[in-house]
Amino acid sequence: SSIGRFPLVPVRGVPLMSHIANNWDSVWAFKPDPSDILIATYPKAGTTWTQEIIDLLLHNGDAEACKRAPTPVRSPFLEIASPPPIPSGLDLLKKMNPPRLIKTHLPFQLVPPGFWENKCKVIYVARNAKDNLVSYYFFDQMNKTQPEPGPFDGYIHKFMRGELGWGSWYDHVKGYWLEREKKNILYLFYEDMKENPQREVERIMRYLDVSVSDEAVRQIVELTSFKNMKENPMANYSCIPSPVFDQSISPFMRKGEVGDWTNHFTAEQSKVFDEDYDKQMRDLDIPFRVML
Ligand code: PPS
Repeated sequence: SSIGRFPLVPVRGVPLMSHIANNWDSVWAFKPDPSDILIATYPKAGTTWTQEIIDLLLHNGDAEACKRAPTPVRSPFLEIASPPPIPSGLDLLKKMNPPRLIKTHLPFQLVPPGFWENKCKVIYVARNAKDNLVSYYFFDQMNKTQPEPGPFDGYIHKFMRGELGWGSWYDHVKGYWLEREKKNILYLFYEDMKENPQREVERIMRYLDVSVSDEAVRQIVELTSFKNMKENPMANYSCIPSPVFDQSISPFMRKGEVGDWTNHFTAEQSKVFDEDYDKQMRDLDIPFRVML
């Protein structure tokens, strides 16, 4: 089937790729099992890393078990309904038994209500805005189903205005933050995971009420290092071949660092961004790290 860059279509005001918008009623009606686990992120915030950690936690740190299939098959992407070779979320979920590890990039208000009705565990991962933007910019170049990113300067303005796929980063991180206590959401930060992965793996383990040995925790930290995941064909998205994901343009496992934005933003772009950031994030106490 033919596949190409999908236009963005608003769903309740949030720009989503047309294949998602066209399938929206089925996504909204999705009924998870109470044992299903949802990983929610703005795109490029650390989703794949967290999926790998949780799959390993659910398999007692067994590396081979977690090589049974590529990430998007082991842990379906709820709203995706684009043609092959991208696996479609709802189709895969129908064939799996709970507990299922489900990925979504939907903002809080678009999460299907079944997740809250069934009190599913929900883990949110946030990443500082500038690194998140840079990572998304490179991804939009190599993933040929995403809208064309265009030049970097224009991309920064689209990000600030919430015009990229899945909408505004600001609304996304705020939406889950404001609901985290009421909905028992575990709210994690990419920067904390980089700083002390063992601490964050243990935090996830406690939240999910699973227990693995200290040795298994150490192994999970090692198996989910950037370097090991980059070399793992079941985690590095080599399952989606070129030209759909053209990793010669930019690898899916690109850099995996905090502060790479300093290599891409000019001083002027950074100033404009910071002024807008302060306005958009005013009155919120989300503890993002200082962005260098
Ligand atoms: S997606 O497409 O939304 O699911 O992408 P996502 O997985 O959220 O984000 C991809 C970025 O996360 C980096 N990454 C990692 N960093 C550190 N450690 C590990 N193990 C890891 N795995 C993935 C990946 O390199 C992308 O960030 P950038 O900055 O582009 O390198």
